[in-house]
Amino acid sequence: MNAHPTAPDAPVLEISGLTIQFGGLRAVSGFAERLEGNELVGLIGPNGAGKTTVFNLVSGFYQPSGGTIRINGVDTKGLKPHKVTALGVARTFQNIRLWNEMTVLDNIRVARHGRLGYGFLHAVARSRTYRAREAEIEREAMELLAVFQLDRHAHDLPKNLSYGTQRKLEIARALAGKPKLLLLDEPAAGLNSADIQELIRLVRWIHASFDVTIWMIEHHMDVMMELCQRIKVIDFGETIADGTPDEIRNHPAVISAYLGDDQI
Ligand SMILES: Nc1ncnc2c1ncn2[C@@H]1O[C@H](COP(=O)(O)OP(=O)(O)OP(=O)(O)O)[C@@H](O)[C@H]1O
Ligand SMILES: [Mg+2]
Repeated sequence: MNAHPTAPDAPVLEISGLTIQFGGLRAVSGFAERLEGNELVGLIGPNGAGKTTVFNLVSGFYQPSGGTIRINGVDTKGLKPHKVTALGVARTFQNIRLWNEMTVLDNIRVARHGRLGYGFLHAVARSRTYRAREAEIEREAMELLAVFQLDRHAHDLPKNLSYGTQRKLEIARALAGKPKLLLLDEPAAGLNSADIQELIRLVRWIHASFDVTIWMIEHHMDVMMELCQRIKVIDFGETIADGTPDEIRNHPAVISAYLGDDQI
């Protein structure tokens, strides 16, 4: 027994009272969430519910009108997206955003660099340390591509890959920065059913293999039911339910939000 108990580690993500207003619209209202290390949690809700807005707030793309967001105990108020990235947050986008003029390998390499914080001066100096780090980054990037079975595409441009492969690359790129929190915004969007099955296996494997908390938005309920330990549901920016996949599936407010009141 420890005679000098220490404060428990801060959660990976702690959100309270999160609110954002766009003109007259409260897109997110009083939102709260707490994610611990290595959890796999879902966020669902009908179109326009405010899901992506929550991710935009957490990743620093939007500043909230109210409430707080803490990443590993650090309040992100006022931080720009790259500073939030440096705290260990990575994301993918509802509409894939890859660097299409760079090769697949460079997409991974640049994402890895961001994490290391090697700046312009280092690049100019071309020091021996810099060159050694470059070689190491390239080796690590190739390794990451290999575990994602993307290595044969290393020198291709993302735009020449199939849609499913681009989605996979975007997830690989997000992981290149070794994040503590990975935000996936509709990773199954636009995928065929074979690719969706592969995505489920991929997310499960990432969750088992990487020391990362995964927070996921998805309209494909089968994907969420299969993967998530817990799911939160929002509608018109308000939280309407929170529970296990089974609790969510049978929750009257959730059924009503998706299907309309006359269905229950
Ligand atoms: N930058 C913005 N300016 C004005 N309104 C915005 C902005 N971003 C989002 N909204 C509005 O906020 C609401 C929530 O949008 P959001 O994109 O978060 O929904 P969503 O739950 O991700 O929906 P979907 O499932 O369709 O992706 C919508 O009414 C949207 O029009
Ligand atoms: Mg969205």
